[in-house]
Amino acid sequence: MKFFIDTANLAQIKEANDLGILDGVTTNPSLMAKEGIKGTEAVNQHYKTICKMVDGDVSAEVISTDFNGMIEEGKSLMSIHKNIVVKVPMIKDGIKAIKWFTDNGIRTNCTLIFSAGQAILAAKAGATYVSPFLGRIDDTCLDGIKLIEQIAQIYSTQNFKTQILAASIRNSLHIVRCAEAGANVCTCPLDSILGLLRHPLTDIGLAKFLEDAKSFS
Ligand code: G3P
Repeated sequence: MKFFIDTANLAQIKEANDLGILDGVTTNPSLMAKEGIKGTEAVNQHYKTICKMVDGDVSAEVISTDFNGMIEEGKSLMSIHKNIVVKVPMIKDGIKAIKWFTDNGIRTNCTLIFSAGQAILAAKAGATYVSPFLGRIDDTCLDGIKLIEQIAQIYSTQNFKTQILAASIRNSLHIVRCAEAGANVCTCPLDSILGLLRHPLTDIGLAKFLEDAKSFS
């Protein structure tokens, strides 16, 4: 399973990248706004900076909701860097746009996936990635992991090449469950990635090793 970081915060991207395990970055308009990035030029410059920092796919989301607007935006985003993946919402014009991008060799991430039916449609259109929003499903008292499992089973049975990019990750357990469920990629906040490091028995064990090592010198 690949690890992406789900943020537009450059310090967090750097910290995750420095671990050596980062495979890519996802962003969305909310994450950009959180960093105070305003205006097309500033947004495009921010994507360029991220692409220079991380050697992996960087999802950049269109904000148009009509076919022509999405195509124009997607082409412009693509011109920023070869690692840009155009992120398109799961709406009717979005599916048409994903098919157009696929036919023209442009990679896509179909976002805001909340059902297996949506994931099938995105795969039919040739999306490179689908992004089921795990945490937001959990927020409605349904089990987001079950959707990841269902999509993984359908894609395997039907031999779809679209990759499952589990999004809206809220904690470290989500990451482990996504790995079990067959997600190809997990895009996570930095805290959830760092949470995988922690175990009290590791800390206790290391403290004992270091204490015992004092007898060597
Ligand atoms: O990748 C999608 C993600 O940014 C949404 O996360 O926590 O707002 O549901 P959240």
